[in-house]
Amino acid sequence: MRRSARVALACRTGWKCGKGDGLPSPPEIETARLRLRPWHAEDRPVFATLNADPRVMEHLHAVLSRRESDALVDRIEAHFRLHGFGLWAVELREAACFAGFVGLSVPRFEAHFTPCVEVGWRLAPEHWGQGFATEAAMAALAFGFEQLALGEIVSFTVAANQRSRGVMERIGMTHEPADDFDHPMFDTSHRLCRHVLYRKPRA
Ligand SMILES: CC(C)(COP(=O)(O)OP(=O)(O)OC[C@H]1O[C@@H](n2cnc3c(N)ncnc32)[C@H](O)[C@@H]1OP(=O)(O)O)[C@@H](O)C(=O)NCCC(=O)NCCS
Repeated sequence: MRRSARVALACRTGWKCGKGDGLPSPPEIETARLRLRPWHAEDRPVFATLNADPRVMEHLHAVLSRRESDALVDRIEAHFRLHGFGLWAVELREAACFAGFVGLSVPRFEAHFTPCVEVGWRLAPEHWGQGFATEAAMAALAFGFEQLALGEIVSFTVAANQRSRGVMERIGMTHEPADDFDHPMFDTSHRLCRHVLYRKPRA
């Protein structure tokens, strides 16, 4: 992300940007069934298994190797240090087990709606169908609007990702077809290029 865009976002959110010096430690959030917390070293092998599962990666670029999965965790932790928020590790409170991530992130590409803050999610398939992504995403939205004072939070995915779109709709985001866009990471002929954008303004 360009520094000017980072500054604009930091001004909008009130969070300090730059090298991350002096940032508050990443917040933890508890919901009825979940804990959104910083990442632990023990999460990494579980996350790698999740990222190697073709069901999880069906609408994403490709399954990840252990090294690629660990590099993603490194980037998530760097994002927390830079912005003070990020993609939290999601733990099921009762079982104390890591289930994936849900949280807020600043997209690194440029598009008609950037700079912005995105809400995103990725859970292991054994934890799908129980409302966990929706529950965690609601908490992330509340954090973004109440603690970061964001004016808007967006989310995007390929049009075919109905499960992800279901979360967006359950958390009250709305979709305008005129906002749909070609993701700059993909060639226009790639099946993952065309994305739908959902928005939620602060109430
Ligand atoms: C996207 C993803 C997180 C959605 O998971 P999900 O389980 O469908 O979503 P939720 O956790 O919100 O659960 C909703 C489902 O649980 C059901 N449910 C059960 N109890 C519920 C509760 N207490 N509250 C809400 N929903 C509940 C809902 O009816 C819904 O079921 P349905 O799919 O049959 O309609 C998951 O599919 C995933 O990780 N996919 C791979 C990664 C990915 O594509 N990420 C997005 C990239 S943009």
